Amino acid sequence: SKAPVNITVTGAAGQIGYALLFRIASGQLLGADTPVKLRLLEIPQAVKAAEGTAMELDDCAFPLLQGIDIFDDANKAFEGANVGLLVGARPRGKGMERGDLLQANGGIFKPQGEAINAGAADDIRVLVVGNPANTNALIAQSHAPDVPAERFTAMTRLDHNRALTQLAKKLNVSINDIKKLTIWGNHSATQYPDLFNAEVNGTNAAKAVGDQAWLENDFIPTVAKRGAAIIEARGASSAASAANAAIDHVHDWVNGTPEGDWTSAAIPSDGSYGVPEGLISSFPVTSRNGRWEIVQGLEIDEFSRGRIDASVQELVEERDTVKQLGLV
Ligand code: NAI
Repeated sequence: SKAPVNITVTGAAGQIGYALLFRIASGQLLGADTPVKLRLLEIPQAVKAAEGTAMELDDCAFPLLQGIDIFDDANKAFEGANVGLLVGARPRGKGMERGDLLQANGGIFKPQGEAINAGAADDIRVLVVGNPANTNALIAQSHAPDVPAERFTAMTRLDHNRALTQLAKKLNVSINDIKKLTIWGNHSATQYPDLFNAEVNGTNAAKAVGDQAWLENDFIPTVAKRGAAIIEARGASSAASAANAAIDHVHDWVNGTPEGDWTSAAIPSDGSYGVPEGLISSFPVTSRNGRWEIVQGLEIDEFSRGRIDASVQELVEERDTVKQLGLV
């Protein structure tokens, strides 16, 4: 039988953690033939709550779950980690400027990057969920110089899944009828969900919609502001859907994307599509042999170009801020 895979989850006692851990332990992250060991990282005040979640995980008697360890020290939590799900982050407080937010998150993602560099397994794969996810991933990556840069990624899969459903509802088709949708740029309100390269039952999705006003005034803002709409309705931010997207991202990274389709993930840019090299930006991606690849050769129309550039510009500014703060 297969050796267990060590999965480190930060922010394990938070609401995404609560939705995520049970799905990992049941085999949905890596597949039903792969045993897992969970390594939970929390701040000291939340360790007790993480212990409570661990008790519930025990009580599920998951056949694939071979152990749960709980830490309040990043160096220990990332020891031997094969997968790192970096969920815990510092939320934006009242009146907090972007610089303050990035500074506070630097205090989390710098030591976690160092811990990954020092102790993670050679095949470590990192997904940053905690916001601002793209730039937090950049901070962690820059403190892990011995880990291949491509192993640091950030999550835009929730945005991708949200866009799939909005489009399916508009055209009254099934999710399965839609292929090649892309989220470009930053996981923020500037993200660009692109229908111009997407297909619905083999025809161009933007043409199938045939309504630029809906695309600009309804579809794009609905996808980009969905997080706020969830908070407004639920009284708490997206948790189960975020956990689901994290599962999708790592599952596809490890197991590959289906032939004839692609997905969206924020990965280090190689300069494709004019995105400055090194920025962790969302692209159309496929995964083969455990590696993400950016889909090449797509035509970018003028409208899309403007949207992509605006979101990438925001990432450039975030990177410049964390540079000034000495965090990268
Ligand atoms: P939460 O507040 O319920 O949980 C966060 C947990 O992280 C808390 O238990 C906290 O104690 C822990 N934590 C804080 N600092 C830590 C550290 N240094 N080490 C380990 N744990 C630490 O928040 P929730 O709802 O679980 O969300 C987590 C993050 O995910 C937030 O930053 C949120 O904005 C982000 N998010 C990202 C999405 C995406 O699409 N990329 C979607 C939804 C949420």
